[in-house]
Parts: sequence; structure tokens; C-alpha cells
Amino acid sequence: MLVWRPGTTAHRRSQGAALTEPLSAFHLVIGIDLGTTSCAVSVWDGSKIVIIPGIVASTVGQNQAGQVVVGQPVAESAVAGVKRELGGDKPIRFRGRTYHPREICAFLLIELKRQAEAFLGVPVHDAVITVSAAAGEPQRRALREAAGLAQLNVRRLLDDPVAAAVAWGADERVRTYAIYDLGGGTFDTSIVRIGPDAIEVLGTAGDLHLGGDDFDELIVEYALRQIRLRHHVDLGQDERIRQRIRREAEIRKRELATAESTTLELPQLTATVSTSIPLTRRAFEAMIEPDVQRSLDHVTAALAAAEAVHGVGRGEVEQVLLAGGSTRVPWIRDRLAGYFGLAPGDIRADLDPDELNVRGAGLIAQEYDPAPLFEGSPGLLSANLRLRAEMADPAADPVVPVPPASAGSGLPRPPAETPADFRPVAELTHSLLAGSPAGEHAALRTAYTAFVAAILAAAPDASLAELGSALAAEYDRR
Ligand SMILES: Nc1ncnc2c1ncn2[C@@H]1O[C@H](COP(=O)(O)OP(=O)(O)OP(=O)(O)O)[C@@H](O)[C@H]1O
Ligand SMILES: [Mg+2]
Repeated sequence: MLVWRPGTTAHRRSQGAALTEPLSAFHLVIGIDLGTTSCAVSVWDGSKIVIIPGIVASTVGQNQAGQVVVGQPVAESAVAGVKRELGGDKPIRFRGRTYHPREICAFLLIELKRQAEAFLGVPVHDAVITVSAAAGEPQRRALREAAGLAQLNVRRLLDDPVAAAVAWGADERVRTYAIYDLGGGTFDTSIVRIGPDAIEVLGTAGDLHLGGDDFDELIVEYALRQIRLRHHVDLGQDERIRQRIRREAEIRKRELATAESTTLELPQLTATVSTSIPLTRRAFEAMIEPDVQRSLDHVTAALAAAEAVHGVGRGEVEQVLLAGGSTRVPWIRDRLAGYFGLAPGDIRADLDPDELNVRGAGLIAQEYDPAPLFEGSPGLLSANLRLRAEMADPAADPVVPVPPASAGSGLPRPPAETPADFRPVAELTHSLLAGSPAGEHAALRTAYTAFVAAILAAAPDASLAELGSALAAEYDRR
């Protein structure tokens, strides 16, 4: 039995659409918010932005078979926060070998592209990707390279605060705002003028190493100090224990957004150490004070730029727009109100701070035309196939009936690394041909065999796309 999912190939086929036809209203340039701790994808559906289900944690780990798995909660061996490493040359140890940061980032982008394609039911080649405004040329270049490895045309690298500003949108008149975007790993702030016709960035500042991950680390250090005092052991050198405490710290930190106090529960850290560590909101605020002050110093720098170039000072900022999960810390909102001399109601948090940037990316993406193909160097396809061959097969798409292995049909199964673009039609074709006498569907059989052979030989992109399209057309014609 087939399970229909709106927006998938099978659903569209049930509506009579040809397999190669794009979805009617969806705009096929996606918006990607590539965060330090989580990623999201959005797409314009003709009237509004849709966030594609399946937000992914920005982690690259491995399953028990040693295959790469993207988006799982942080495991000890997983790589997290690669966004902060982009632009550097420090190799990353993972799966017993070393990777370049852009390759780890490419795993994330490959998975996001796959999810978008599974949702839309058609190939996606183009994206607008968010980047910290503080990112320099090396980070931006590395991100473009990672996108190339994922076979994505980058239509624009969109600065985080601009994405947030676009998502907030305009009032009926031009207003001056400060955007304060504190996520998991990076901090961005901009002074912007948002009007019905334009968004103008007046000044920007930020920090590639300031965010909620740092807050978690401060709680970890606090917990380790408490354990030293109580149990007279230093567990700080054990990365597994640190990881356990970090995970608990992140959960309890979130609780402090609504509770005055919480407790870190850390049973059986070692054979002799089990502990509970109380943590008050006040103590947490004292810990993060230097980081929060640092963020306000960046706001001051953004204001100085706005003042120097546009004559816009602190007093002209009418409201502060919050983006990024770490702005859920209530004390940060209080500090901002104090800094700008604004009422609490002018520190705007009425849109989900996690979704702003991906919404903005999707809105900007809608301004670009989708390309029929990946436009980067054909040589990147083999690098892409190599990375994809390392990745675990995504859970079988429920719309595709996976046929039982057909003994003696002589047909090769589509390889696991079949590009997501053509995987559904390859599976369907295989299913059809495996169940048909050898003399039937000759043209389809030829198209299928050529396509599978090309993949196995890591064919250059253009011919692969042509072969895939031919296969899809042949399938529809049969
Ligand atoms: N209720 C909360 N209280 C405190 N922190 C929170 C809360 N909810 C989420 N966070 C923190 O927000 C951070 C994630 O925010 P977000 O998803 O905006 O970051 P990101 O986009 O992945 O990273 P970045 O934009 O910095 O690259 C994490 O550090 C998380 O712990
Ligand atoms: Mg972010």
C-alpha cells in the first residue's frame, strides 16, 4: 500500500502530474538557515513561507555501522558546531580519519537538500544560505565550497541580521531597529531601517564565537568546580563526562528561562561520583554576565558605525528585534531594555526566534530563478558521490514501494548513492522492470541500465542529469 504525503512525487502523480513536472506553486529555490546548533530549510509555497518539517541538529555523527548520520542529538563521537570552524584549516577527526570543515558542513547541506527534495518531490539545485554577518571572506568561501560539494548553487549568502529583518517585515512607516541575534555559536547585531519598500543596514557588528554553547560551557565549568569541592576529584579531563554534563547543562539552562532555579542531575558520572547540583537563575546570570556585556559592546560598535555613516544614534532605535534561541534568557531582554532605555514591550520577541532567519532566507530565495541543473564544476559530482556514499541511507521514503530483491531479473538495484533527484523514479523503474518479462519496456530498460551504470561510474553531472531526466520521461511514457 502506498502512503501519500502531500507535496511528494507520489502524491503529485496521484493527481495526474508528470514525474518531471515541478510542483505547481512551490518556488524551487530554498532558504537554508545554517546554524551552529540547528539548521532549517524553508520554501515559498506561492503565498507564504513553509518551513520544511524536520529541523536538523547541526551534528554529524555515525551509526553503528560507521555510516555518517546527520542531525542526531550530540553523541560523543559526533562533530557539532562546524559552522564555527568554517574558514579554518584545522582538520576534524571523525570516523577514524580527518575531514576538512567544509566536508563536514557539506554532510549537513546534503541532508538538508535531501529533505527538501523529499518534501517537494523534485530536484532542488538552488539555495539562499544564511551566514553570520561577522563572517569574513574565508568563512564565506568555505561555505560556498561546502554548498558546491552538496551540489547546491548558492544564489546568495544572506547575513543573519538581514534575514531576521526581512522576516520581521515592515510596519506602515519606516522605523529604526536594532537586531540582536544570539544563537548557539555566533552573535550578530545590526542597526537597520525597515520600511515598506526597503531594508537598510546602517551598522553591523558581531562575534563568531559567542552564543548559547558558551553559556553551556560556563555551567559545565561550574558543575566541575562543585564536584571538585564535594568529591575531591577533577573530572574535567574526561571528554565523555564533560559531554554528559554539557547535555544536562543545556536542558537546565532552558528551564531557567521560566523557572527561578533548577538542579543538574548527574547520576553515576563515575563509579563513585553521583551528584545533584542546584543552579539558580541569579547564579546563571552572574556566570554569563561577561558574555552578555561583550554582546552589548558589539551593539555599541554597530551603533558607532550607524552614527558615523548615517548619523543614527542610540536614541533613534525604536525597538529591538530578537532572533536566536539564546534571546529566550529573560535577563538578556532586561539588559537590552536598560541599554536602549526602552520599555520591555519594545524588546520584541513576538516571532519565534528560532524561525526568523530561515523565514528570511526563504523570502529572499523567492527572488531568484531556479536553475535546471547544478552549475558548479562537473568535477564536484564525484566528490559529492564520495561523501554521499559515506552517509547512511535515509529511511526509505514511504511513497516509494521498495520491491523485494528479484532473483534472476538481471537488473542492478539502484545504488544507495543514487542522487536524491532521481531516486524515486529509479526505484519505481526497478520495481516495474523486475516484475516484467525481459522483452517488455525495452526503451525504459535501456534508460534505466544506462542511468545506473553512469552512477556506478560516477558520471559527470551533466550527463547524469540528462540520463536521469530521460529515465523519468521514459517511465512516464511507458
Ligand atoms: N529557553 C532557552 N533558554 C536559553 N537558551 C536557549 C533556550 N532555548 C534555546 N536556547 C539556546 O539557543 C541556542 C540555539 O539557538 P539557535 O537555534 O538560534 O542557534 P543557531 O542558529 O543554531 O546558532 P548560530 O545562529 O549561533 O549559528 C542553543 O544554545 C540553545 O541552548
Ligand atoms: Mg542562527
